[in-house]
Amino acid sequence: MNFSTVNKKTDRGILLPAIAFIILSFVQCTPKHKVVSSFKASTIAGHPDKGLKDYYKNYFPIGVAVSMASLHGPDSALIVKEFNSITPENDMKMGPIHPSENIYNWENADKIVDFAVSHHIKIRGHNLCWHNQEAAWMFKGPNGGAVTKELLLQRLKDHIFAVAGRYRGKIYAWDVVNEAVDDSDDTTQIYRKSNWYNICNGPDFIAAAFRYAHEADPQAKLYYNDYNSEHPVKREKIYKLLKKLIEEHVPIDGVGMQAHWKLNDPSPDELRKALDEVTSLGLKVQFTELDITIRVPQPTPAPGTTPQAATMPPATDAGYTPELEARQIAQYKMAFDIFRQYKKFITGVTFWNVSDRYSWLDGRGGGLMGGAAAGLNTPRVIKKAYPLLFDENRQRKNAYWSVVNF
Ligand code: G3I
Repeated sequence: MNFSTVNKKTDRGILLPAIAFIILSFVQCTPKHKVVSSFKASTIAGHPDKGLKDYYKNYFPIGVAVSMASLHGPDSALIVKEFNSITPENDMKMGPIHPSENIYNWENADKIVDFAVSHHIKIRGHNLCWHNQEAAWMFKGPNGGAVTKELLLQRLKDHIFAVAGRYRGKIYAWDVVNEAVDDSDDTTQIYRKSNWYNICNGPDFIAAAFRYAHEADPQAKLYYNDYNSEHPVKREKIYKLLKKLIEEHVPIDGVGMQAHWKLNDPSPDELRKALDEVTSLGLKVQFTELDITIRVPQPTPAPGTTPQAATMPPATDAGYTPELEARQIAQYKMAFDIFRQYKKFITGVTFWNVSDRYSWLDGRGGGLMGGAAAGLNTPRVIKKAYPLLFDENRQRKNAYWSVVNF
């Protein structure tokens, strides 16, 4: 259409809405934080039909954490294309699946297992014993009083036999015990003082859980799962826990390193050191909950000074900037370069959530509200974390290509 000859009144009637429509459709389909990355387009070769699982078929399964919502619609199509392992994000945890002594909520967990089986996708079970999303009734004695260690362990056994027994032969690996190691810098305090630890008056519940799980499904690979496993103090505590289990001939196959990472955490050396330590015990490793938030923790204010945040008006959220994207690409590339070098020991890498459309981190201040260490009562602060390889429109991010181009 030639703008100069336009008969003002009539054509403008048509023209303007047409222009508006074109502008609007352009705005609609552009992710809010379109990034013009320095990542050289030339490296984005890739094969249209290949997914992450195909690029890593000679290395290890690539998995993703799923909820009911992700089993339908575009998420499920992406999952089937890119991944060959799934982990229930919440539906197999003690509280959600066993809310009271004689009640099991199998429905969601069954649907996740059926989805995986129907698509020939492996399934990781998460988790059989944890201090969060626990089945609170387990810690109450018969008349509401304190529960004894014996009764608590019997309840743990019944729970593990029921859940691991139900999915025997379908779930290939279980996070048997999750996050039982203490977070503090006190190197003498190995174990988290959870209800499990306090009522059992020690860590016996950990070995017991592994023995029950092995009895319930002798074929399943059994993992101890935790976060910040690369941080030196926590790494040593996890090493001591594992060494004790092995010395006690507890049936454990490997360690789950959750990998809720940041742009500069862990460093390549910290990651290698953590891998070298646990594999020196003859154990396998899985990265079980990988995501890399772009949110950078604010420097802790010097003692006696008012934290900057308290004085400055909240900065507008710059979101997923090219600079942060470049750092995320570098961190993902570093991680997968090392994963491939350790392929002899690594038996799976799982992402925690499907795309930046929804990440558990978004409700935890993008990961700045304590991340995995944050308790359930941590106030919800919404801040997008953009931590995964697919953007909010489920499109492959440049970070995706830094993982598959090797
Ligand atoms: O199901 C209830 C729903 O009925 C209720 O209406 C809603 C409102 O409160 O809460 C829903 O439960 C939420 C549940 O996710 C299911 O969406 C819980 O509040 C919420 O706390 C829970 O968050 C999960 C968190 O574990 C609990 O600690 C996250 O989705 C999940 O991604 C996260 O995963 C953990 C791993 O299991 C272990 N490692 C750390 C990781 C991140 O914290």
